[in-house]
Amino acid sequence: MVEIEWREEAGRLRASAASEAEWNATVAASLVRDSDKVAVDVGCGGGGMAKALAEAMPAGTTVVAIDADPDVLEQAREHTAGAVRCELASMDDGAEPLRKAIDAPADLIWASASVHHAADQQSAVDALASLLAPGGRLALAEGGLPTRSLPWDLGVGEPGLELRLDLAQDRWFAAMRDSLPGTVPMPYGWTDALTRAGLTDVTTRSILSESSAPLSAEQRDRLIAGFQHRVDRLNPDAVPTHGHGHGHGHVEVQEWLSREDLAVWARLLDPESEQYLGRRTDLAVLSVRSIHVGQALR
Ligand SMILES: C[S@@+](CC[C@H](N)C(=O)[O-])C[C@H]1O[C@@H](n2cnc3c(N)ncnc32)[C@H](O)[C@@H]1O
Repeated sequence: MVEIEWREEAGRLRASAASEAEWNATVAASLVRDSDKVAVDVGCGGGGMAKALAEAMPAGTTVVAIDADPDVLEQAREHTAGAVRCELASMDDGAEPLRKAIDAPADLIWASASVHHAADQQSAVDALASLLAPGGRLALAEGGLPTRSLPWDLGVGEPGLELRLDLAQDRWFAAMRDSLPGTVPMPYGWTDALTRAGLTDVTTRSILSESSAPLSAEQRDRLIAGFQHRVDRLNPDAVPTHGHGHGHGHVEVQEWLSREDLAVWARLLDPESEQYLGRRTDLAVLSVRSIHVGQALR
């Protein structure tokens, strides 16, 4: 059983909203059209994209940020500081609560890493598609490639540590989906989901972002906090704590990572250890995120 307590993620989501501001601004500018009147961010987290949309949209238009968790939504409300209308609604409740929250046909709906938390992902995509104005676009930021940050051989433990973390996270993700009440498999890709929802001109654009070594102190600290979060989530011995940098509670003990790898991670993430990642000059960030877009008929 893997359940996510979103309120425990609120601080971390707010931090990502701030650190991803540049990426969000670039993507928002590429998606918004001059004629757009209403843009929506569904499963908005800390409100990073909602804020970027508000900055990219023409003057006098509306941006609505929607999330199912009140504590997360509060972070979005603070982050967007009045530029965006924030509404509580869940994709698990069908189209109507979302339609009420938005209150007008949407020209652009953005949903990043949120539809994969809906119990029935195709129903969620169908619901979002039904909220579009004629010619409106639904953009789903889902998937891409696993981020690469560490050298293959770290000089501690078995080489390939980061690959094994990705694999463990993939198994954790499958268990998370299995644990959602009323979960429905979606055994096809996001472009098919958009097409099945009746959208046309379905395309995918993948964006590569790179911060090469050596990272700045800020980039390095963010990377290490990200690893800490991912390892804690996969470590049955980690005591779930509230607030920034930690989060997912475990109901039953399951070994996602080997004891050996957990011991290596403990050394890499301990500032007192000689192997602390923060001492390395060869950390980098290479990431590829995919955006799948479909358009409603005119
Ligand atoms: C992984 S976070 C992504 C946040 C943000 N979109 C981003 O890309 O950084 C998933 C977000 O979706 C929200 N969420 C999860 N299930 C949802 C649902 N059924 N309806 C609406 N929002 C949901 C969570 O509260 C969380 O804010």
